[in-house]
Amino acid sequence: MNSSSQTRKDFPILERNINNKPLVYLDNAASTQRPLSVINAVSNYEMNYHSNVHRGVHKLSELSTNAFESSRNKIKNYINAESEREIIFTRGATESINIVASSFGQSFKSGDEIMVSQMEHHSNIVPWQNICKKNNLKLIMIPISKDGEIILDEFAKLLNSNTKLVAITHVSNALGTINPIKKMIHQAHEKGAVVIIDGAQAMSHMKIDVTELDCDFYAMSGHKMFAPTGIGALYGKEKLLDGMPPYQFGGEMILSVNFKETIYNELPYKFEAGTPNISGVIGLGAAIDYLNNLNFDDIKKYELNLLNYLSEKLLQISGLKIIGKPKNRSGVISFMFDNIHAHDIGTIVDKEGVAIRTGHHCAQPIMDFYEVSATARASIAHYNTKNDIDVLIEALNKVKEIFS
Ligand code: ALA
Repeated sequence: MNSSSQTRKDFPILERNINNKPLVYLDNAASTQRPLSVINAVSNYEMNYHSNVHRGVHKLSELSTNAFESSRNKIKNYINAESEREIIFTRGATESINIVASSFGQSFKSGDEIMVSQMEHHSNIVPWQNICKKNNLKLIMIPISKDGEIILDEFAKLLNSNTKLVAITHVSNALGTINPIKKMIHQAHEKGAVVIIDGAQAMSHMKIDVTELDCDFYAMSGHKMFAPTGIGALYGKEKLLDGMPPYQFGGEMILSVNFKETIYNELPYKFEAGTPNISGVIGLGAAIDYLNNLNFDDIKKYELNLLNYLSEKLLQISGLKIIGKPKNRSGVISFMFDNIHAHDIGTIVDKEGVAIRTGHHCAQPIMDFYEVSATARASIAHYNTKNDIDVLIEALNKVKEIFS
C-alpha cells in the first residue's frame, strides 16, 4: 500500500499550510485528523436532523435516535462484541477507564491488588491510584525493560490470588510498544483477575476483536480513530457491566424515579446519564465506516515500513537518541537530543510546518524510568508519507544547526 493521494485527499486538513509550509502532521497519537466523510456526517446531523435522542416522538428525534443507535451497532460489529448492551458511549478512553475504576472498583476489598504497567498513560494510572487510596488496595506496578517492553516473567510472578484487576495499554503512547495483551489477559484470567485494556493508541492502527482477545473491558477514544474529540466508548462484558452500579446519576440512566426509590435503566443506558454527545456519536459511527473500508493488513505493513524509515533516518542524526526499542511497535517513536530541550525541538520544527508532540506525553512514570523529563514524539497515521519523514528530518537538522 502507498499512502495514495486519494487517502490524503480524504483528509482535507492535510492540504493546508502552516507557517507558509505544507503541513506535515506527525502528532497522530495526540489526535488523528478527520476524513471528509466524518466531517460531512457531523455537519449533516447538525444541519438536518439535530434533536435529542431517546426522548421525543417527533421525526427529528426518531432520526437522531436511529443514527445514534446505529453508531453503537457499528462499534459492536467492528470490535466483534456480543451485544450493543456492551457498548457504552463515553467522552473518551479516560472516561471509559474512570467508569470501570469508580464503578467496578467498588467491588474491591482492603488488601486486594490492582496491577498497572510502568508504561501507562496517566489515565490508566491515576484512577487506579485513587481507588487504591480510598479503599486501602495495593497498586502494583508491572516493570518494563530498557527496550520498553513489559517483563512478562515479572508480570507472571506478580499475579496472585489477590490480583483483582490488571490495567494495561494495548499500545504505549510514549514508546509505541505493542503489548502482548492476549497472553497477559489469559494469564490474568487464570488467577481470576479482570483485565481492562486502554486501546486509545491501537484503534487507528489495527483491527480489534474483543471476543478473540477475551478482554473484560476495552477503552477507546474517538479522536484517536478519525472521529471527533469528546467522544469514545467503553466495551465491557455484559455480565460484568450488569453487576456494576451506575457511574453518574440523572436522566436517561433511569427507568423510574420517585422519592422513595429509583430504578435504573438497563444496559447500556445505565451508564449514559444525561444528554449525550450526539454529534460526536454520529461522527464516531462515520469513523467506523471509514475504518471498515481500510485494509489493516496493508496498513500495518505500510506503517511499519514508515516507522522503520523514520527510525533509520533519526539515527543518522548525530547526538539524537531514540527512547525505547520494542520489537513490536506501532505508530510512535520518541526521541531526544542530550543538550536540546524537547520543547525547543517542537517549536523549531513547527516553523517548518511539522507538528510533533513534545513533553512527558501524560506518561511521567515512563519518563522517570528513562530518567528524562520530556521527549519529542513523532506519531504516524496511514496518511503519512516518506516525504513527511524527510521534512521532519530536515527540520531536525535545522534544530541541530541552531543549537550547535
Ligand atoms: N494521550 C495523548 C497523547 O499521547 C493526548 O498525546
